[in-house]
Amino acid sequence: MYKQYYQHFLQARPELLHCAPHSHYYWPDVTRAAHLAYWDDSARFADEKWSYLFSEKIPRLQQCIAGELNLAQPEQIVFAPNTHEFVYRILSVFPAGKPLKILTTDGEFHSFNRQSRRLEERGNIDITRVPCEPFDTFAERWQEAVSASHWDLIFISQVFYNSGVVAPSPQVWLDAVATPETVIVVDGYHGFCALPTDWSAYADRVFYLAGGYKYAQGGEGMCFAVVPTDCQLRPEYTGWFADFAGLAKAQVGPVAYANDGMRFAGATMDFSAAYRMMAVFELWQQEGLNTAARNAYINHLQAGFLQHIASLKHPLLHERNRLHANDANAQHGHFFTYRLDNAEQVSALAAQLRERGVATDYRHDRLRFGFALYHDVNDYRTKIIL
Ligand SMILES: Cc1ncc(COP(=O)(O)O)c(C=O)c1O
Repeated sequence: MYKQYYQHFLQARPELLHCAPHSHYYWPDVTRAAHLAYWDDSARFADEKWSYLFSEKIPRLQQCIAGELNLAQPEQIVFAPNTHEFVYRILSVFPAGKPLKILTTDGEFHSFNRQSRRLEERGNIDITRVPCEPFDTFAERWQEAVSASHWDLIFISQVFYNSGVVAPSPQVWLDAVATPETVIVVDGYHGFCALPTDWSAYADRVFYLAGGYKYAQGGEGMCFAVVPTDCQLRPEYTGWFADFAGLAKAQVGPVAYANDGMRFAGATMDFSAAYRMMAVFELWQQEGLNTAARNAYINHLQAGFLQHIASLKHPLLHERNRLHANDANAQHGHFFTYRLDNAEQVSALAAQLRERGVATDYRHDRLRFGFALYHDVNDYRTKIIL
């Protein structure tokens, strides 16, 4: 139904059913011209490119993202090549050597998981990781943990990357945060442009991180943070973009920061992904295909996929092995995760699928199938034959 938008990527590997868009979405065809437009603008503006980007291109992209998240202040949105950069920048707001108490889950993506585990080696960082499972009691356990202490940092996903289960939104637990100084971060990478998300109620309190190479479909290189309004934090890991407006001033004395989201900016980066992401937003606008409509199509694919998998009666791909919340009304992310007995079983099944022309991805004992606009239900019936 929507394959027409992805002809370049689909024709590059016509035999393959790409079930890993949750890892890296195919880019719609419109992104090709956008990528070239970056080259042309680089030639047109040369050294003046930065002021052009920051006065013309970036504000438009900020507006699109703000529209997507229902935010009144697009200037609170700041860009970096990846979310890891923001993770570390946010961690750097705490004075070096200060003992930290961090609350998180055992389902966070490597960018936070690895970094926080490495910091733990300092010996003065105390991290509590609330287990995601059982999913049905997570909200209650998380809320209890939030209120149990004065945390320096709270970090949680919007949708867990290793199950697709949607985490409780801050609406459920934000009031339980005991300290106004607690820095709160939601990693929204698996929610942004997949699930309709209204961030307006949290815009003055919670950092939201996401990026372009999954459901925003613009490819790697363009991640963003929504920085809480009036945030006065001073990240130690800082670059010259963080005070772009003040560059002409004498650079002496205390390091100054922008008063909007740019205070969390780093330094020179490749903005071609911003052009691609913009092109995707424009495509959705032209076609009237907003996130609610795209999500509805993905839900339809997911239902068709489950029906097909049930008909296979496969010894491993069945409902008992699929990670999900039992509440039938609970939203789910745009991929399904099957947990098998061990990593060997998973890699063997992924290899078997790949031989049949189905690309999935797996992590340890979990096999993930993602759903994309460039699928239709018939693809599952004709390709996933086990
Ligand atoms: C939940 C989540 N956050 C972040 C990322 C990407 O992290 P980074 O931008 O640091 O590469 C991913 C990628 O799969 C993810 O699943």
